[in-house]
Amino acid sequence: MTRTDPEIADRIKKDIRLFFRHTDLKHEAIRELANLYFQQEAAKQADGMQEGAASPKVPLESEHVDEASFHPVDLDTLLRTEIKLPSLPTIFSQIIDLMSDPNSDAKDFSNLISKDPALAARLLKIVNSAFYGYRSKIDTISHAVMIIGTSELYSLCLSTSVLTLFHDIPSTLVDMSSFWKHSIGCGMIAKKIAARRGETNRERFFVAGLLHDIGRLIIYSSLPDQAHDMLSYAAQKKDLLYQAETRVLGFHHAEIGGKLLKKWKLPGKLADVVRFHHHPEESTEPLDTSIIHVSDILMNAMKLGSSGERFVPPLDPVAWKTTGLTVDMMSVIIEETASQIEEVSNILIPRKQKDRTQRYY
Ligand SMILES: [Fe+2]
Ligand SMILES: [Fe+2]
Repeated sequence: MTRTDPEIADRIKKDIRLFFRHTDLKHEAIRELANLYFQQEAAKQADGMQEGAASPKVPLESEHVDEASFHPVDLDTLLRTEIKLPSLPTIFSQIIDLMSDPNSDAKDFSNLISKDPALAARLLKIVNSAFYGYRSKIDTISHAVMIIGTSELYSLCLSTSVLTLFHDIPSTLVDMSSFWKHSIGCGMIAKKIAARRGETNRERFFVAGLLHDIGRLIIYSSLPDQAHDMLSYAAQKKDLLYQAETRVLGFHHAEIGGKLLKKWKLPGKLADVVRFHHHPEESTEPLDTSIIHVSDILMNAMKLGSSGERFVPPLDPVAWKTTGLTVDMMSVIIEETASQIEEVSNILIPRKQKDRTQRYY
């Protein structure tokens, strides 16, 4: 291993103190994440790349936000008045109907999916990716149903549907490509943790990771002025974004995300995981929520994409224990995810959103 230039090493260590300021650096998992971050940044700088390519784009530290202008509101009132939650594409409600019909079978499911060629093509690409790791090629939806099962494919359909929503978000607030990369990566890590635990029906972990920060997209699209304020406030105070959201809006993204999933009539369990991913101790689904909580922290710490957060969120030590993850497994999972995320993101992130992304870095 090559030695890092002492000047560069000092700079990265200073960056770590700031970036990990809301975490307990004495915790074994956080210490390892800081180590991995150090190695990653040292390698980048040795290659002449800029640090923090996935940092939130808005350079807001210099903008002063007047706290007197904050008018926190009640989320339910806001949902009844100003905010309109998006609906899922029709194909998705047809899939839900099919899933709840006791007389339907795998053939009905593959017939329905095959009617939407774009969806069918995306599904086949994703199940043939390195992330899924099947040795032989899966050519048709009916073949995919046979190998993967309808409930797993149902989750995959949901994932691909959600990524086509939210076209109108100002690119000054969030880089959509980076947002989805953070979310997809969180889902990939969560599914890998579940696989190591031997959990069945693992696709739900991918979906929960994919949707964990979706409330932020509602805030960015429905309340752009307040979103700008909360991003500025978080940057100015060096605060966590979800705390700044509560300060500015009176609620945070996980609360609105949970409400959206209920509106979409997704399983209550999923809504609970999303609702409590920053507070796993309050969840009625401790295992699933702990896995998403930890996966989110891993994604933030490695700066693989960003949903707007500038710091590594604090790790709940009980949630860490609940996942059963060890420090060694964590670094292997991060490495695997980093090597597969481009392929999965390229399949799932719609081209339109990629094209809209301006180069800020
Ligand atoms: Fe979050
Ligand atoms: Fe997140």
